Amino acid sequence: MALDNLQKIEEVDRWIDACGDYLEGQQEFANEFVEPRRYKGNELVEVVGVTALATIHTAEKEGRLPPPDLNENNRRLGATLGQVLTMQDYFGTSPCRQSDDEPQILSFINFKGGCYKSTTALYAGSYYANLGYRVLLVDLDPQASLTLNTGLFPDVDSSYESSLAPYIIEDVDHPLENVEAVVRKTHLPNMDIIPACLDLAGVEFSLSNEVVESRITQDKAAMAGVFFRVREALSSIKYNYDLVILDGTPSLGLLPLNIILASDTAIVPVPTEATDFASTRSFCKLYKQQAEILNDAFGDDVPLPDMFVLPTRYSPSEHNATVSSQEILNAVREIFNVKCLDTVIRKHESVVSNLSFFRRTVFDVNAGDCNVSRDARKKAIANFSTVFNEILEKAVFPHWESKRVWREERGIV
Ligand SMILES: Nc1ncnc2c1ncn2[C@@H]1O[C@H](COP(=O)(O)OP(=O)(O)OP(=O)(O)O)[C@@H](O)[C@H]1O
Ligand SMILES: [Mg+2]
Repeated sequence: MALDNLQKIEEVDRWIDACGDYLEGQQEFANEFVEPRRYKGNELVEVVGVTALATIHTAEKEGRLPPPDLNENNRRLGATLGQVLTMQDYFGTSPCRQSDDEPQILSFINFKGGCYKSTTALYAGSYYANLGYRVLLVDLDPQASLTLNTGLFPDVDSSYESSLAPYIIEDVDHPLENVEAVVRKTHLPNMDIIPACLDLAGVEFSLSNEVVESRITQDKAAMAGVFFRVREALSSIKYNYDLVILDGTPSLGLLPLNIILASDTAIVPVPTEATDFASTRSFCKLYKQQAEILNDAFGDDVPLPDMFVLPTRYSPSEHNATVSSQEILNAVREIFNVKCLDTVIRKHESVVSNLSFFRRTVFDVNAGDCNVSRDARKKAIANFSTVFNEILEKAVFPHWESKRVWREERGIV
């Protein structure tokens, strides 16, 4: 029997509840099941930044560091990230910026859907946090996949009030000095997130209206302000962190433009697949149009961010009808030249998909955990680490004077 409209709506309502229950169950399962990553042996020495394991063990024996966690046979379990941070503090080896260095805002942005933006943003945040940096993730996509993957349940654990939305539209009930209230903890002690919610979709509409109004009243300053709302909203809380990582929507609009203009460096993930590559040109075209409008109106008062291209979805063994992943990669490198990062994000399908089920990244889990094979974990860690280290070298350290001095003292070029 055919359903009437009300029945059809009720049916959708049941789907909403059932999806919610399923996601909540999955989240509880992940929280109970996933053991925190533990650092041992050489890995511990490297992440703490000392020369030998004995340095750590002696400090623990002498009570200068808390005693290690032991298993039932009195063997060391290894240090959690929280314990690593305590060790870095004690030995003065924390990689965090000095107070004179500006925190760096990075975004992974392209108007192309599915080019690995959110996953790369999450993995970058987790990698940097696991090195000891203080990281803030900011989810500005109403789809909220970054929010979900850090263990929050979008539109249940997040809402208009607990996202950046009211601060972007300058809601009078949410003055800028309260923005810290929307920052939430993640599973990592030194990585926080500002979650997204569905209402962020309405922000785009509000911002467009404001631009139209300011054009009518020819209020140039008001119009400029609309492009910098995200930057404004983050201008004070960013100082609690070393790195702020923004994730946005695969669309061209005022919110994505706000993300680009809030970034010190915008990294454009470019898929190395023929069909998707065409959209990279469209992205450049659309961005150029907007940048020209801004530049004509405000000149260098409106600084455009540095930009790098990051090839993604690289899979040299995979061929499509006309051209292979390797050929597209070669073209991307030739076209973007020094602005193309040397490293690429490879496809790690089983790793990423298994870990997203557990709301973790490859940097947060122990070898053999979460249905990820040791070999696949090792390969993924090696690939992601080289990419994120290159981003540190090219987009972050040049802005931190303390890193230059630190390296000069140690003869590192
Ligand atoms: N390195 C990777 N290897 C394999 N699969 C990946 C990798 N990175 C992301 N994925 C998968 O590809 C799909 C798209 O990734 P993601 O959501 O990060 O893209 P996006 O660009 O943020 O998409 P959108 O445009 O919808 O925001 C997801 O299913 C994700 O799990
Ligand atoms: Mg995304």
